[in-house]
Amino acid sequence: MTVREHSTVTKNEDMTTTDARAFPAGFLFGAATAAYQIEGATHEDGRTDSIWDAFSRVPGAVINGESGETACDHYHRYQGDVALMKDLGLQTYRFSTSWSRVQPDGGPVNPKGLDFYSRLVDELLAAGIKPWLTLHHWDLPQALEEKGGWAARDTSFLFRDYALNVHEALGDRVGVWTTLNEPWCSSFLSYTAGVHAPGRQSKPAGLAAGHHLLLGHGLAVEALRERDPKLELGITLNLTVAKPVDPTSPGDLDAARRIDGQFNRFFLDPIFRGAYPADLLADVAGLGLAEVIRDGDLARISQPIDALGVNYYHGELVSDRPAEHPLLAQAPTGRATSSPFPAADGVFNHPQGLPLTAMEWEVQPDGLRELLLRVDREYTRPAGTKIYVTENGAAYDDTVDADGRVRDVERTEFLRSHLSAILDAIDEGVPVHGYFYWSLLDNFEWAWGYEKRFGIVRVDYETQERTVKDSGLAYAKIIRDRALS
Ligand code: NOJ
Repeated sequence: MTVREHSTVTKNEDMTTTDARAFPAGFLFGAATAAYQIEGATHEDGRTDSIWDAFSRVPGAVINGESGETACDHYHRYQGDVALMKDLGLQTYRFSTSWSRVQPDGGPVNPKGLDFYSRLVDELLAAGIKPWLTLHHWDLPQALEEKGGWAARDTSFLFRDYALNVHEALGDRVGVWTTLNEPWCSSFLSYTAGVHAPGRQSKPAGLAAGHHLLLGHGLAVEALRERDPKLELGITLNLTVAKPVDPTSPGDLDAARRIDGQFNRFFLDPIFRGAYPADLLADVAGLGLAEVIRDGDLARISQPIDALGVNYYHGELVSDRPAEHPLLAQAPTGRATSSPFPAADGVFNHPQGLPLTAMEWEVQPDGLRELLLRVDREYTRPAGTKIYVTENGAAYDDTVDADGRVRDVERTEFLRSHLSAILDAIDEGVPVHGYFYWSLLDNFEWAWGYEKRFGIVRVDYETQERTVKDSGLAYAKIIRDRALS
């Protein structure tokens, strides 16, 4: 794909004249899901508890005491779901494998568990859809958590073995392998803030988990590369754009530095530069990070990768104080960030008055353009790594109209504006190779349970009926046209 193939076309399907913007040849359109959020069948065919099964049982951990026990019942309905993907025209589908299904309790391989993914991959290939596999989307086997979880170094090596086991079964048919999804969440949100499984609340444990996740990534890349040099290997990070409320205020600039540090540089720097940023190491001095890093770890973590997955939902406007500052007058509800990273204490997030999704996340499409530019210039271009947007999407309080349609105008606009931001980035020379909407289906939104719906396909959890929303129809048209009109 050459980015300059991106051009302006002037006719849409109805032959009316518009200014449509075409996507480059080779740009992949997809949608994403994750095992625990959609599969259900949590105790079928040998699967045992993951940390999310256990965490969901803790009173108050998940809204309404919900869990992924049934979710979208995708385990039994995967054929219908793949047919839906085909109808939508998806070219690729990003899904994750459940470690607890593949290796119950983290122990020996469970052929029945692997067989499910093998059937799913066959179904995708038969439908002409490229499988994009994520090995770890947060659902660590509970038995491994009881041995220390990601705070323990051994887990990184067990993760490498699990990666090889999955590869053994699917490596002949799956070409793209990403190791981790959003390790910021599975470390700081999970081991420090305690709002995600396993619900621990320890700064040293969060930092150790962050390092061990990165080490697990490096070990898996090394082992998979050795097995098959042809694989496309990568990782997905949740990245952000952090801006100071007052760019002349040293305190605000430092708040932005710390947020940028925890979301972006804590992960990007070890992967692309082989070192943790010095300022972050100084911020967290005394919390045990230096002690868990061993000789050789950073060389492993910085093994070259082929694909960087960028997950983008919104940016951050931050300061080191709440609203009394005059510049914050328009954002009087400046609130302490929910950020669990040790060095983010005393950072305040400030709303910018932009439209909100049902998650109360501000809609900031231009942040995606800025982020892609930065990642390209500072990290992926020098390394020759391809960029994909592996998640982007929005929850809204959808309603089903009397005629059965879901007219989710806001989600359609969200999708269009973010695709447009990607085209802007491409125009500025960033070779973005694909986009995955989050999510294909409404699903289990972690601590939010089923309340928040991100899907372009509605799921009626009573009947498991699927209905393509208007946003899904709009996405299908964009994919058909390969252009935004
Ligand atoms: C990121 C996560 O990867 C996914 O699991 C989650 O549902 C979405 N963001 C929306 O919060």
